[in-house]
Amino acid sequence: MIEFHKYPLRENPGLIELAPSILSADFAHLADQIRSATEGGGTLVHVDIMDGHFVPNITIGPPVVKSLRKATQLPLDCHLMIANPDQYITDFVDAGADWISVHQEACRHLNRTLQHIRSLGAIAGVVINPATPVETLSEVLDIVDYVLVMSVNPGFGGQKFIPGAVHKIRRLAEIRAVRGLNYRIEVDGGIGLNTVAEVVRAGAEILVAGNAVFGQGDPKVNAQKLLKTAIEATLQKV
Ligand code: DX5
Ligand code: ZN
Repeated sequence: MIEFHKYPLRENPGLIELAPSILSADFAHLADQIRSATEGGGTLVHVDIMDGHFVPNITIGPPVVKSLRKATQLPLDCHLMIANPDQYITDFVDAGADWISVHQEACRHLNRTLQHIRSLGAIAGVVINPATPVETLSEVLDIVDYVLVMSVNPGFGGQKFIPGAVHKIRRLAEIRAVRGLNYRIEVDGGIGLNTVAEVVRAGAEILVAGNAVFGQGDPKVNAQKLLKTAIEATLQKV
């Protein structure tokens, strides 16, 4: 089995990856839906964990992650939208999470939480909500593997893209260059054929998409179209 998650994250700077979000998939047929999105070019599986406290919705926990681990070889990118991430990080890693991201807004001791994720051998990400400035991350950017910029308020799939995310992505790319850092930039929320070019041109490299992949039609075809549009946009990047 290829250990995708072990590759140095920025071995391929500028590499565009699609992370289909299973939040919008048919939960009764998750393995089939993931297979289809993978055939369409998905290289990470984005798993939204919600607890009904940090966000007003409830989804899944470690037992489902454990089953997903058997259903795909792709890295599982677990986005924790939960009030007390420290309490559950070990459970998610044990269940098979490869990448774990925590919200800046949910972590009182963000440095410690990120170090903890890394100490367990997982890839550590930090997430910011639409109202949270990039500057709040300045002291942790050197210990994260990726930064996830929310382009909707977290909690639900199928919401409208919030344009303020674009300048945050651009800013993160600038800071990375100036400080010589290595994190990758992921974007999540409202990503579809009409928004993907803009975020990619700003510097987003990992594109989370739920509704655009699993909403209607064939996930494979949807993923292919989205990735093609994104890659074409990189060629126009200024
Ligand atoms: C929202 C989740 C997203 C969601 C995105 O809180 O974090 O990952 O699945 O869904 P779309 O792509 O439909 O906006
Ligand atoms: Zn997400």
